[in-house]
Amino acid sequence: MIFYYSATGNSRYAAEAVREASGDRCADLLPVLRSGKREPVRSERPLVFVCPVYCWQLPHMVERWIGETPFSGCRDAYFVLTCGGDAGNAASYLKKLCARCGLKYRGTAAIPMPDNYLMMFPSPTEEEIRESLRKAVPLLKDAAERIARGEDLPEKPCGFLGKLCSGPVNRLFYRYYLKDKAFAVSDACVGCGKCASVCPMRNITLEGGKPVWHGSCTHCTACLNLCPASAIEYGKKTRGKRRYRNDRKFPETE
Ligand SMILES: Cc1cc2nc3c(=O)[nH]c(=O)nc-3n(C[C@H](O)[C@H](O)[C@H](O)COP(=O)(O)O)c2cc1C
Repeated sequence: MIFYYSATGNSRYAAEAVREASGDRCADLLPVLRSGKREPVRSERPLVFVCPVYCWQLPHMVERWIGETPFSGCRDAYFVLTCGGDAGNAASYLKKLCARCGLKYRGTAAIPMPDNYLMMFPSPTEEEIRESLRKAVPLLKDAAERIARGEDLPEKPCGFLGKLCSGPVNRLFYRYYLKDKAFAVSDACVGCGKCASVCPMRNITLEGGKPVWHGSCTHCTACLNLCPASAIEYGKKTRGKRRYRNDRKFPETE
């Protein structure tokens, strides 16, 4: 069974690649994460977790969900991570996560795709998006076909910098950087509530018809990038930047 979490569409696109190769079922984790429930999961097929890399690791909310969910049936676990550049040492943490929850680790594929983290990086141009997806498609197909054949995904070596990023930098990032005080809406906001409905943490409510953030943000960028009116800003860091979302159907790149 394929479980995916995707803030801006890259990981949904990646999950489709796996579904196409294996014919297995796909489940969107957004409603599950939002519910906070930990229902038991039974799957006769390998578990494939597809999601973005956040600070060279699995998003902590997804890691918590895997760690707290009772899985039964097939215990093989694959990870397909989409990222803007690389996943650092994420694979070694995933191995440990699997060992902790009785899953059999079968490997990680980290697939570079257009970067959605507009609070930190420039928006990708249309040409950069197409180029990035053109490169991602064969990598996704390769990972998906290996999973469908029941092979392990190949291990990639990780250097000192990757270990530093996935370890101490990740901890500092979660502790000190993931704040939501800088979020604000412009007059373009029509109070549609999309931001509140896509927030995996249920961190946004509408008050007086405008979004208010409540302090448990993961910087997933769903509110920022999916706002139909592009009315959400993160201080000056996102001002004037084009929003990013991937609505394409795998393997479209245009
Ligand atoms: C909070 C946050 C942290 C991120 N950290 C990394 C990172 O450490 N390495 C990287 O290559 N990309 C990083 N990215 C980029 C995303 O992993 C990438 O754009 C991903 O494909 C988005 O997936 P989605 O469209 O399914 O949400 C980060 C993005 C966000 C929002």
